[in-house]
Amino acid sequence: MSIKSLLASLLLISAASAQLSGSVGPTTPLSSKQSLICNVLNYGGQVGSSDIGPAIQKAFDECVTTKAGATLYVPAGNYNMQTWVTLKDGRGWAFRLDGFITRTSTSGGNMIAIQSANDFEFYSANSAGGIQGAGYQCRNAGPRLIRIVQSTNFSVHDLILVDSPEFHLVIEAGSSGEVYNMAIRGANIGGSDGVDVWGTNHWIHDVEVTNRDECVTVKSPASNILVERIWCNQSGGSAIGSLSDGTAIQNIQYRNVYTNGGNQAFMIKSNHGSGYVRSVTFENFISHDTAYGLNIDQYWSSQTPGSGAGVALSDITFSNWDGNVSDGVARPPIQLICADGAPCTGINLNNVNMWSKTDKAVVKCESAYGSGVSCIKSGSGGAYAKVTQTISRPGGYSTPTTMAGDLASGFATNAAIPTP
Ligand SMILES: *[C@@H]1O[C@H](CO)[C@@H](O)[C@H](O)[C@H]1NC(C)=O
Ligand SMILES: *[C@@H]1O[C@H](CO)[C@@H](O)[C@H](O)[C@H]1NC(C)=O
Ligand SMILES: *[C@@H]1O[C@H](CO)[C@@H](O)[C@H](O)[C@H]1NC(C)=O
Repeated sequence: MSIKSLLASLLLISAASAQLSGSVGPTTPLSSKQSLICNVLNYGGQVGSSDIGPAIQKAFDECVTTKAGATLYVPAGNYNMQTWVTLKDGRGWAFRLDGFITRTSTSGGNMIAIQSANDFEFYSANSAGGIQGAGYQCRNAGPRLIRIVQSTNFSVHDLILVDSPEFHLVIEAGSSGEVYNMAIRGANIGGSDGVDVWGTNHWIHDVEVTNRDECVTVKSPASNILVERIWCNQSGGSAIGSLSDGTAIQNIQYRNVYTNGGNQAFMIKSNHGSGYVRSVTFENFISHDTAYGLNIDQYWSSQTPGSGAGVALSDITFSNWDGNVSDGVARPPIQLICADGAPCTGINLNNVNMWSKTDKAVVKCESAYGSGVSCIKSGSGGAYAKVTQTISRPGGYSTPTTMAGDLASGFATNAAIPTP
């Protein structure tokens, strides 16, 4: 059974773009971006080049510029890169990366930053284009791979991102972006985020992530973001966070998320702070052998506390979850630890059947109001101390289905990670 049909078998009938506020992706077709092909080989680049960066920058500056209708083209083949590029203010343009680029410098920043683009498409036509970050050579001390900054009406698709020294793909603010068909393989260590996204009206779908940090994570501020068909395959798992002062997140939906061996099936994480997370739904989750399951932790110890009394969480619904954690007594399959200074309200779990591989589990709640788990209080009210309850196996629980391609463990941190 394919991953898609497995997840499709759990799919609820719902509108295709439930949480989006409008169309996403480039406003004009790819064909309208091909009146001018800006091939890096005509701007000083060569297949096998030791630094393709300057040719990419030159092709952008001299050929794509800011007029509409051009494609920056890196033909198939291998390239090294040691000069990072910032491609700014393009409109009506495409970046066709059929070649495969390997990082060779340890400078920080972003290997490829696309800034203030509008009507933009970044893709590989042969599904073989992408970047090898060789992060094992400079762990957490090198560049991010791709960052899309303050851009509108864009897509990023069919690219392979391997072993970034830091994060793989960051969508920083902007609006109406679409990210899909991405294969991301990072190392089994923190600081290796797959996709981090914030902004307005973005759609992230059909993404596979191996790493040991964020799988696909929404950060603040964010509104109208839909994340679906995500495979966190030996990953840190997906999250909303980390959240602190001035958080503003609403109208977010995650659905059809499969997590094998992650740190969590899903986590909302903060530590004190202020602002809100509201109108969020999590639908159709399958997970197995994760450390935590459904996890709200507003005293997340890995984060420096914000100055406010807590980020207010409200109107958050979890539906149709099936999964097990490794040890449900040590780390609960369901934990709702809300800020005493801003109790959570409207946290509703429907048909959430999280359990433990050890066949024993507890659930924990603190200052949480809503329904669907024994330790939560109904209605609304003030802070209450942490309640830990032993639960029995949920009635609806069935051992979560595994996938043929599941990895038994993550990729090594000190050796090259193969390109898929
Ligand atoms: C993005 O596209 C929408 C139409 O889909 C348009 O209304 C908006 O102005 C575009 N953004 C920019 C910055 O042109
Ligand atoms: C938990 O899930 C795994 C699949 O990863 C399965 O092999 C195991 O039997 C499950 N454990 C329980 C107690 O259901
Ligand atoms: C897990 O990752 C491996 C290696 O990237 C891949 O071959 C396999 O298809 C993935 N499995 C799933 C279920 O995503």
